[in-house]
Amino acid sequence: MDAKLTDRQCRILPAGENALGEAKAALLDGQTVAIPTETVYGLAADATNGEAVARIFESKQRPSFNPLICHVSGIAMAETFASFDPLSRKLAAHFWPGALTLVLPLKEGHAIHPLVTAGLDTVAVRAPKGFGAELIEAVGRPLAAPSANRSGRISPTTAQAVADSLGDTIGLVIDGGPTQVGVESTIIKVEESKIHLLRPGGVAAEDIEAAAGQKLTRAEANAAIQAPGMLASHYAPNAAMRLNADHVEAGEALLGFGPERIAGAEKAKAVLVLSETGDPVEAAANLFDYMGRLDASGARCIAVEPIPLHGLGEAINDRLARAAAPRETI
Ligand code: TXA
Ligand code: MG
Repeated sequence: MDAKLTDRQCRILPAGENALGEAKAALLDGQTVAIPTETVYGLAADATNGEAVARIFESKQRPSFNPLICHVSGIAMAETFASFDPLSRKLAAHFWPGALTLVLPLKEGHAIHPLVTAGLDTVAVRAPKGFGAELIEAVGRPLAAPSANRSGRISPTTAQAVADSLGDTIGLVIDGGPTQVGVESTIIKVEESKIHLLRPGGVAAEDIEAAAGQKLTRAEANAAIQAPGMLASHYAPNAAMRLNADHVEAGEALLGFGPERIAGAEKAKAVLVLSETGDPVEAAANLFDYMGRLDASGARCIAVEPIPLHGLGEAINDRLARAAAPRETI
């Protein structure tokens, strides 16, 4: 890659100032812009512009077989390119704007660039909250946006984390403060009136089940699931990860959960507790930030205390398992 590009530092612009106008102009000019959403920061581009979308892959160094989520202002915009079955429509109406992504069939003659969907005949769609929602309204087009981190790394929950990960390959980051949810959206796909959970995330499976009046089907771990981005070693920090730890070993940092620490916590290189009270919502919001901070402590390994599976605990354990998986070359 061009050395000049690598030396360049991106600009961080607070969401309150003329951010909307600047971000809109850059997107309509075919540039990428990193934007806050309620889940994690996304690296956005006009989903109908192939060159703009290609810049996302280039910045993230993401394998191009990995399709992106299309962000929309609501069901009406999504319907310009995707078809809703009745159950998907009901769930979109219930959870949008919010942290639920639906995989839907593409419509004939749609304007979404094939790079976005990596050649699939389906598209992942969600309507975000906050700055992202205002920006999509202003631009009037769907925005393709993966999490704004280098491929395989921790998803950013602050503007600074975006700049640290991608600052040398992007121009502009809009700073909306720390994201509220802290983990990526939940991805589901309805097929023959069954709801498949493709990726646990910011909306708890139990809440989807309550709204839909039926149980979710979970993709088996490592099955050829239809979320091709679910590489086992996604989200990896530099340090190794040791999950469900019952003690801390020399040279390890500790990621805690709940009021009590495991044996040997006092000798950890660094300790951060996801939630002192054992609240999975608070833990999800802190997860990527704390993993990044413990990684920066230089520990060779991060020991992680057990985290119960209920509510957002499922998404947290999923991300931790990926971070702990044997590393693939990225
Ligand atoms: O919260 C989020 O979802 C964030 C924010 C920025 O919206 N975005 C995000 O995007 O996490 P990304 O690209 O990091 O993850 C998108 C996931 C990938 O695992 C990808 O494989 C899956 O969505 N995906 C995209 N299109 C798909 C499709 N047509 N069928 C199945 N999975 C799809
Ligand atoms: Mg990602």
